[in-house]
Amino acid sequence: MSYTAFFRKHSKWALLGICLFQNSQAFAWGQTGHRVTANIAEQYLSADAKAKIAAIYPTKSLAEISTIADEMRSDPSEFWQKTSSPWHYVSVPEGSDYSAAKHAPSQGDAYTALLSFSATLKNPEATLQDKQLALHFIVHIIGDLHQPLHAGDGTDRGGNDVKLEFFWENSNLHRVWDSGIIDRQQLSFTEWTNWLTQKISPEMAKQWQTTDPRVWIKESIQLRNNIYPQEEKLSWSYQYQHLPEVKQRLQMGGVRIAAYLNSIL
Ligand code: ADE
Ligand code: ZN
Ligand code: ZN
Repeated sequence: MSYTAFFRKHSKWALLGICLFQNSQAFAWGQTGHRVTANIAEQYLSADAKAKIAAIYPTKSLAEISTIADEMRSDPSEFWQKTSSPWHYVSVPEGSDYSAAKHAPSQGDAYTALLSFSATLKNPEATLQDKQLALHFIVHIIGDLHQPLHAGDGTDRGGNDVKLEFFWENSNLHRVWDSGIIDRQQLSFTEWTNWLTQKISPEMAKQWQTTDPRVWIKESIQLRNNIYPQEEKLSWSYQYQHLPEVKQRLQMGGVRIAAYLNSIL
């Protein structure tokens, strides 16, 4: 069979493959980043929070539920295509502070969604299904807010419009920070967790306890301002320069997911 005849016969599958591939590129903090923050969090949960989480998701780990909000983006419903898509980030113009009233779009942003899902988890009238949705979004959103470009300045879609090469492949700045730097290390999420958790001292964990999302956003904005590269071809030196920041944001994200859940559950 010629190549063209083969493609004609199987084009459906080729197109599906291309779509899935492109979709997988759009995952925020990448799958690994979310699983690492959630897995670190498991080790800092109070007994009480653990029990309440187990009642909501009896058979799933936090790592497993941390990526649902991204995976569901291939669902064609309006909720997953439109309503929930701004809940993954906040936009804060340069020189400005986060203020929910000024910056959130009508369906909300990561900050307002986090507050509203927290209210659901605390509400004794909420159904199990509502609580499951709230819990997996909370774990996901806290992770996202620790990726510096999920607090974008509103001009370049959090660096998605900054096209560049990362290790000789076409990419963009947002993707480099979601997954490029992390995946380059070729570690599984459990290996990442083991390595990163060992290096969190009790003093660090204590210092990071803050459960105010505006503090996390402020830190992300500070980092954001130092990660826009001068050059278009990034490789070793960019990786070397920014890996320590990525590691610290994963550690902090993990500690904060636990601190936040401990405080609301
Ligand atoms: N679209 C607009 N701003 C964005 C951001 N900071 N992250 C991801 N997608 C976005
Ligand atoms: Zn996300
Ligand atoms: Zn992202």
